[in-house]
Amino acid sequence: MQAVDAAVLVAAAVSDSNILGKHRLMSDTKPVVEVTGLRKTYVMGKTEVHALQGVDMTIRQGELVAIMGTSGSGKSTMMNIIGGLDYPSSGTYLLDGIEVNKLGKNELADIRNQKIGFVFQGFNLLARTSAVENVELPLLYDRTHKIKNHRQAAIDSLELVGLGDRTDHHPNELSGGQQQRVAIARALVTNPSLILADEPTGNLDSRTTVEVMQLFQELNKKGITIILVTHEDEVSRYAKRIVVLRDGRIIRDETQVPDSASDDIAKLILKQKREMETAPVSAE
Ligand SMILES: Nc1ncnc2c1ncn2[C@@H]1O[C@H](COP(=O)(O)OP(=O)(O)O)[C@@H](O)[C@H]1O
Ligand SMILES: [Mg+2]
Repeated sequence: MQAVDAAVLVAAAVSDSNILGKHRLMSDTKPVVEVTGLRKTYVMGKTEVHALQGVDMTIRQGELVAIMGTSGSGKSTMMNIIGGLDYPSSGTYLLDGIEVNKLGKNELADIRNQKIGFVFQGFNLLARTSAVENVELPLLYDRTHKIKNHRQAAIDSLELVGLGDRTDHHPNELSGGQQQRVAIARALVTNPSLILADEPTGNLDSRTTVEVMQLFQELNKKGITIILVTHEDEVSRYAKRIVVLRDGRIIRDETQVPDSASDDIAKLILKQKREMETAPVSAE
């Protein structure tokens, strides 16, 4: 009976992925990120490090992009600029059509708060604060006050990531995967144009990694634009587009039909059930 249930689950996931797998062209959605001739040079005493050496890239609404490349290739530099945490040395960056390099520090902070949700490798949750309070935090800094009821927005956001029943838990009462989902809820609470995630699964085991990627795929299906940095093929195979950096330049930029994370989870469940069924009955 259990095996039948699992088979149904797999069939459902596979048919779901067939709908998903149909390649939707993004060329007619609006650009969220447009960088042109982007350069970043770090000056350290007499030496210069050319971290970005002329990057051109457009990312449109509804994309799910993995930025890849070896250590030192410029991924974090690029994410910092796209995230409005740093300025380029030259080149232009438009976020939702706004020329970010021309903004002052305060304006930049506002744009960052309104338009970008950040997810980090180490979750970055406040330890002595409940899940719902962690998720509310970005709203404290929202000077537009477009969201009136912070608590309700945070609860809605936690429900979106499947943690509606964990609102009062503290981070140490949650698994790593759940903590990262709280962090994703926090990134979503301001209704940003863009989610930026730097190695979001770097601290998670392989099963939890697939679960977090399933969540990103679900959110992306709802139209949320996501850019994530990863060096793992296990993560990038769930992206619709892969951009590879080397020495501060894009050396590859390709779209792909992503694997379905929910499909992979269904397969894992099926495998576990098979193993349980064939395991010898214990005498306990
Ligand atoms: N704040 C900084 N000051 C000086 N050099 C830096 C700084 N940040 C990064 N770099 C250098 O820029 C290059 C790209 O770094 P980074 O963007 O962190 O790459 P990645 O994230 O792909 O590992 C590296 O050579 C790195 O040493
Ligand atoms: Mg980095």
